[in-house]
Amino acid sequence: MAVGIFDSGLGGLTVLDAVARKLPAVPFVYFGDNAHAPYGVRTHDDIFNLTCAATERLWDEGCDLVILACNTASAAALKRMQETWVPSDKRVLGVFVPLIEALTERQWGDNSPPREVAVKHVALFATPATVASRAFQRELAYRAVGVDVEAQPCGGVVDAIEQGDEILAEALVRSHVEALKRRMPYPEAAVLGCTHYPLLARVFQDALGPEVRVYSQANLVAESLADYLQRRPAFLGAGTLAKFLTTGDPAYVSSKATQFLRRAITFEAV
Ligand code: DGL
Repeated sequence: MAVGIFDSGLGGLTVLDAVARKLPAVPFVYFGDNAHAPYGVRTHDDIFNLTCAATERLWDEGCDLVILACNTASAAALKRMQETWVPSDKRVLGVFVPLIEALTERQWGDNSPPREVAVKHVALFATPATVASRAFQRELAYRAVGVDVEAQPCGGVVDAIEQGDEILAEALVRSHVEALKRRMPYPEAAVLGCTHYPLLARVFQDALGPEVRVYSQANLVAESLADYLQRRPAFLGAGTLAKFLTTGDPAYVSSKATQFLRRAITFEAV
């Protein structure tokens, strides 16, 4: 009954942590494509090919359902995967929709026309590829009208996190928040549109100020996955073992993962 969780690197661990707490009986198989991170500066074709390869590896582990715990892959590859590549007995889901439903106060499956929502000024922080895809604005426009979104491509942040350079990552976050605030001085909400960024949620909140509501995905995705599995239990795959796989150096990735999540995590090579 395993479920696969994919990210380009360490960021998806923020989602893994939340889904494992919400669904303790489900064995999760995590795949970090650390050898190819960051995805945020790659072409869409490249992101599509890498994400398909990782997803196939998770299918081999008995995970019929794979969550792309990566906004960049969700934005740049998911639609194409679903339309051209995923067979009918498998599912691949992304992390955008639960976040946008929370922001627009919608329940799952509410397909009513877009309407006015409470929040009017939203700051989006994401990788350059996610920002360039405009997938966030597209999904939002299906559900809400009159929301002004200012997007900040946060170059360098994923790289700094993957390298374990927390000082550089913090400095970059502060400069990206400043750059966004020059264009949108008073956002009401900020979306951390990259699963690496919750590792720096405190820095984002501090730089944005206490009046800005910061949305990050981990708990929203966990709620939405629990709901999905209740409706579609057939997509709990045949796998029985939880494990952590990486295309990078397992010892190095294990030590960074342990440092970030503050619990022992052991990766093995794919
Ligand atoms: N965690 C990925 C995301 O949510 C990072 C992508 C990257 O590797 O640049 O977008």
